[in-house]
Amino acid sequence: MSRTPAESLSSSSHGARHVAIIMDGNGRWAKRRGMPRTVGHRAGVNALKRTVEAAPTLGVEWLTVFGFSTENWSRPASEVSELMGLLKSYVQSDLARLEREGVRVHIIGRRHGLAQDILDIIQHAEARTRDNDRFHLQVAFNYGGRADIAEAALRYARDVAAGRASTDVTDEALFGSYLSTAASPPPDLIIRTSGERRLSNFLLWEAAYAELVFQDVMWPDYGPDALSAAIAEFKSRDRRFGGVDSNDVLASR
Ligand code: IPE
Ligand code: IPE
Ligand code: MG
Repeated sequence: MSRTPAESLSSSSHGARHVAIIMDGNGRWAKRRGMPRTVGHRAGVNALKRTVEAAPTLGVEWLTVFGFSTENWSRPASEVSELMGLLKSYVQSDLARLEREGVRVHIIGRRHGLAQDILDIIQHAEARTRDNDRFHLQVAFNYGGRADIAEAALRYARDVAAGRASTDVTDEALFGSYLSTAASPPPDLIIRTSGERRLSNFLLWEAAYAELVFQDVMWPDYGPDALSAAIAEFKSRDRRFGGVDSNDVLASR
């Protein structure tokens, strides 16, 4: 998770290897059309399919999407159950294709509190795609950045108590390995749609040096063009990771 300055400089010259998206605006998209929010969520699944298809063609290797937050339980029960159902139907309808296309599926977030049928489908999707590595699709479901950090701290403390980890050093990389995102590199680019400009508890630890891009498009209208525009914006940024501009490094030699 932590980088040396050399790694930082070399990664800054690359594209957006890991893109994470806060898929927002389904409800407003539907409302503007005089339709119930659930229609927006269903249209959002089609946007997700378009985006997953486009991402590898734009140089993305990891795509993390925020599907359901630990705070989304406060929505009406009917909407929560619609969102649960959509995760199930998305996996059921697309898993064979994802598996065939070399996509490895990872689901991050709290498993506790999810119904058995959802747990079964998550486990099935991860097991069936375990040997794939052409592209990684990471779905944050029942995920909250704070909950993830708090749970990592608890597991770390348990390992210390059991003598499996030491308290002599504070090691960011070791702590990062306790997070549910441990398998993925840190996100290079975090996108939020719908015009809102906040993280809403997404990837709090991992976002440390991510570039943030906010787009006004509502999630159901998202697709290859919007993703490509976000990546173009990312490429125009100068990532310094606390160092100096890469041109300044050359100039000072
Ligand atoms: C994003 O759209 C989907 C989820 C949070 C699951 P919203 O449902 O938040 O849509 P808005 O923000 O109300 O428009
Ligand atoms: C964040 O969006 C969660 C997901 C996209 C799953 P929200 O719509 O729940 O966030 P707030 O309520 O606007 O902060
Ligand atoms: Mg929202």
